[in-house]
Amino acid sequence: MKNKNPIFYLILLLVLTLNSCKEKDEYHSVIEKIKAEQKPYHGKLTSETLLAGTDLIEITEGEHTFLIPERKGQIKSFACTECHNSSLSQMKSLVGKKAHWEIQLYHAPDYIMNCATCHNGEDMNSLNSLTGQSINLDLSYKVCAQCHSSQFEDWKGGAHGKKLAGWTPPRASMTCVNCHDPHKPSFDTRWPSNFNIKKALERKEGLDH
Ligand code: HEC
Ligand code: HEC
Ligand code: HEC
Ligand code: HEC
Repeated sequence: MKNKNPIFYLILLLVLTLNSCKEKDEYHSVIEKIKAEQKPYHGKLTSETLLAGTDLIEITEGEHTFLIPERKGQIKSFACTECHNSSLSQMKSLVGKKAHWEIQLYHAPDYIMNCATCHNGEDMNSLNSLTGQSINLDLSYKVCAQCHSSQFEDWKGGAHGKKLAGWTPPRASMTCVNCHDPHKPSFDTRWPSNFNIKKALERKEGLDH
């Protein structure tokens, strides 16, 4: 029953080859194929669903208007005035610390900075500018911007820091304190994640000999 004639196979091969050629030639390039087969997108790309459930505040700095996360709800000891209802000198005891043991300042030398540089003893629920004006705790980037103006400029434009959700609008960016602890803002140096122990040991052995 089977056709054993080699010519049959030859013709079959020819037909198959021609067919595949035809398929290949349908588009002359990948770009052409994409253009021909693309379907117009009628939806609207948005980060809104990713941002749902995050409390955000809209800010305008220069020509940039964008969202940042609110902070007061995240700060354990807010509202500060629950305890800070008298002056600091009255609250401080002569014998040891009574509160905030976990907070130590590793930021700048103490001739430049102490707690009162940023916290206003008269109005503890707010931060303090260098000229003694109140700054809302939700807008703490304004405190940082006083001394770190170049990072602030970059951050406004989106070059320093990170987006909260996607790149599609609305723009929502992390604020300085989302990444930097204001009391200890620099990061510890870390090894690259793919640090190769075997290679390092080999190198060390090489050096030891
Ligand atoms: C549970 C009570 C309590 C709360 C809430 C609280 N504080 Fe205090 N805070 C104190 C006490 C008590 C002192 C005095 C500390 C001492 O004796 O060393 C103090 C001192 C301070 C000082 C001065 C520290 C120094 O060494 O000069 C700062 C700044 C401060 N608090 C900031 C805040 C801020 C900002 C908040 C809110 C985000 C806050 N505190 C919330 C109890 C509190
Ligand atoms: C460079 C400015 C700066 C200095 C200096 C500074 N703080 Fe703060 N502090 C902040 C900012 C900004 C926040 C709010 C951080 C946030 O949004 O989470 C804060 C938050 C706090 C809180 C609330 C933290 C919590 O999780 O409950 C306390 C308490 C506090 N600071 C006390 C102090 C004390 C005490 C000192 C001095 C030893 C000090 N701060 C020095 C900027 C500063
Ligand atoms: C009063 C001025 C002042 C304010 C306000 C201030 N800083 Fe600083 N900051 C400094 C100084 C000075 C240094 C130390 C710079 C150095 O050691 O080279 C520093 C260091 C830093 C560093 C480490 C830099 C490094 O090279 O590792 C970071 C990050 C930083 N600050 C972030 C912040 C953030 C975030 C805020 C706001 C919460 C803030 N700063 C508020 C003056 C300030
Ligand atoms: C998404 C996280 C993130 C946000 C938001 C962010 N930073 Fe940084 N910042 C970093 C990282 C990461 C570095 C690099 C640290 C390093 O190289 O050790 C850095 C470095 C810095 C330095 C050290 C100098 C430098 O440029 O390397 C300063 C000062 C600083 N940031 C201030 C700020 C201020 C002020 C804001 C807010 C206006 C801010 N940062 C917002 C992550 C962030």
